[in-house]
Amino acid sequence: MNLPTIASIGFGAMARALQDGLARNSDSLRLSGALVRSATNQEATTNFTLWQSAQELIAAKPDLVVECAGHSAVREVVPKLLEAGIDVIIASVGALADSQTRDRIDRAAQTGKARATVVSGAIGGLDVLRAAALAGLDEVTYVGRKPPPAWKGTPAEHLLDLDALREPTEFFNGDAASAAAEYPKNANVTAAVALAGLGFDRTRVRLVADPHQQTNSHELEAIGAFGRFRIILDNNPLPENPKTSWLAALSAEQAVFRHFTNLEL
Ligand SMILES: NC(=O)c1ccc[n+]([C@@H]2O[C@H](COP(=O)([O-])OP(=O)(O)OC[C@H]3O[C@@H](n4cnc5c(N)ncnc54)[C@H](O)[C@@H]3O)[C@@H](O)[C@H]2O)c1
Repeated sequence: MNLPTIASIGFGAMARALQDGLARNSDSLRLSGALVRSATNQEATTNFTLWQSAQELIAAKPDLVVECAGHSAVREVVPKLLEAGIDVIIASVGALADSQTRDRIDRAAQTGKARATVVSGAIGGLDVLRAAALAGLDEVTYVGRKPPPAWKGTPAEHLLDLDALREPTEFFNGDAASAAAEYPKNANVTAAVALAGLGFDRTRVRLVADPHQQTNSHELEAIGAFGRFRIILDNNPLPENPKTSWLAALSAEQAVFRHFTNLEL
């Protein structure tokens, strides 16, 4: 039996976790190779191909590609794959905060009769949000809470003395469009919530530096005709990249299983 060819864009922490996860959890699915910026011999094995251009990857006719690279790969590589008729799972959902990129991906998928799917990533409850939106949502609020050092390298650094913080402190309260633009490192979760629910202008985002917090926590609350729901996730990091939640890699793996299953549970 021929195994499907599954490739990743990028071969960093998430793609490696996907490779390990598929090897551990499936007899029939495995990562066949990756599109990388520069190939090193250590990564190439007889069972694993490294492609160095989108053209090379397209020529290999993969059945599915999982983007595990970053926002620029969503803009630059994903449309080419979709136009060539290759289905793509997108992990860097934050790239879709830009409406031109969303339109480009949509048009490319239509041209190639291919499917682009976004992962739920580090956040959960998006199935509830999508369903609830059908009857109308009144409010959606996302609260991102991280230990102060995790906000270093963001505008929070100029708003707070992160090293001196003793109490949880909110430093951003605004819409998802501004949050995604000002805090691009948080944009994947913000965009996933906005796209599933009330959109970028009506989704409220609060960002908090919390010295009592050990992990990255995501809280999502929605109120609408369906009722009300609230979910809190305290995510452990991927050992290879503390900036990426383990759950984000697991959700990419789960999206691969869903893609190939006949009965989606
Ligand atoms: N949806 C979510 O909740 C969520 C959570 C975490 C991460 N992510 C996304 O997943 C991406 C991957 O995460 P990671 O932990 O593996 O990051 P990582 O930095 O460990 O690895 C990313 C790899 O992709 C490579 N890369 C970047 N652009 C490329 C391109 N155009 N072509 C080929 N390779 C390219 C980089 O060189 C790097 O090796 C992140 O950039 C982020 O956008 C999404």
